[in-house]
Amino acid sequence: MHDWTKAEWIDPTRPWTNPLPVPEFPERLLVDFATRCNLRCPMCPVWGSDDDRAIDEVKGIMDLEDARRMLDQVMAGRPMVAPSVYGEPLLIPNLKEVFTEIKRRGMPIVANTNGLTLTDDLAKFFVDLQVDSIMFSLDSVTKETLQKVRGIDRLEKIESNVFRLMRVRGDAEYPRVGVSFTIQPENRHELDAFIKRWVGVVDVVRTCPVFDTHEGTFTQIDAPAERRPCPAIYKTMPVHNDGTVRLCCLDGFRATAMGNIFEESVPAVWHGEALAKARYYHETGQWDKVPFCKPCNGWVQYDYEEEVRDGILIRRSPQFTYYNKIDRLKNWRGSLLGGHKPPPEHLVETSSGVL
Ligand SMILES: C[S@@+](CC[C@H](N)C(=O)[O-])C[C@H]1O[C@@H](n2cnc3c(N)ncnc32)[C@H](O)[C@@H]1O
Ligand code: SF4
Repeated sequence: MHDWTKAEWIDPTRPWTNPLPVPEFPERLLVDFATRCNLRCPMCPVWGSDDDRAIDEVKGIMDLEDARRMLDQVMAGRPMVAPSVYGEPLLIPNLKEVFTEIKRRGMPIVANTNGLTLTDDLAKFFVDLQVDSIMFSLDSVTKETLQKVRGIDRLEKIESNVFRLMRVRGDAEYPRVGVSFTIQPENRHELDAFIKRWVGVVDVVRTCPVFDTHEGTFTQIDAPAERRPCPAIYKTMPVHNDGTVRLCCLDGFRATAMGNIFEESVPAVWHGEALAKARYYHETGQWDKVPFCKPCNGWVQYDYEEEVRDGILIRRSPQFTYYNKIDRLKNWRGSLLGGHKPPPEHLVETSSGVL
């Protein structure tokens, strides 16, 4: 691996004497196999934009052969693969092939979906393939609010698809089934009702404040004054459909450029100059040099506190809260933990015996 600590872009007044370790492979590979969507949620950093030309520029489908090469390059590190960054994964044209290629290489699949087009056939495919986790983005408990935050009123349809997947899965271990709520002014009043409706029903409920794409930060988060390097740039590699790598999954319109894995390779980009520079600037507090990161406070995402209450393990950070059903904790492990420490062993052991 290249030693970047003596590179000519190192400022001698800010030497990089003790760089933070970078794992050999990213732990999380976020891949837009298809940047396409059947919704235009106003909050979405890509599809919420009213600049259709900018959207057209990032739309696209990853070639299957390129996808295979990419997966071959990372399989030794067994990263978790999220099959979309700013696309709807159920709309990947060759979804079954892509998912099979990922699992065949021993890598977990963790998908967020708007859930609209889940069929029995697809649900059965996910269960048979043992897709690791499917999280439905619901963001509401009424169709009026769904209309405001996701631009459609088909709440019953999405909810019935959550139950469809749980029914098809039955007592099988995978997929882990969850629902998520992205908190914003238009739905905040339904947060408590959402928690009441879903906690203990699905395996996991996730809540997270919205990222404000205009401000470039999570305006609802109070981060500590003392800033630290963002853990995401040591764990996560976001890849667009054209093989280009971004510094952050929040960069939907390709403001940052870390390299191209089809022209180089995943390890070459992961340990390459552009990401090394970004890590150096983070570690030495030179935020002006990383304009995309400068206003952002998402670096607090992994500082978790834990609470156990009424059969639920709650993990709360300034960004995410996860409500994990304790009797389905056995399927929350390995890279599915997404940067969390594993759940306490005694809780996993008390999980009911179905898994
Ligand atoms: C970008 S979507 C892509 C996957 C899929 N189409 C979906 O909606 O779940 C992934 C997740 O990001 C959330 N999301 C979208 N815009 C966001 C924003 N500005 N801030 C925080 N989360 C956001 C969505 O609610 C969803 O749970
Ligand atoms: S949040 Fe998901 S469903 Fe909504 S527009 Fe973005 S990619 Fe599509």
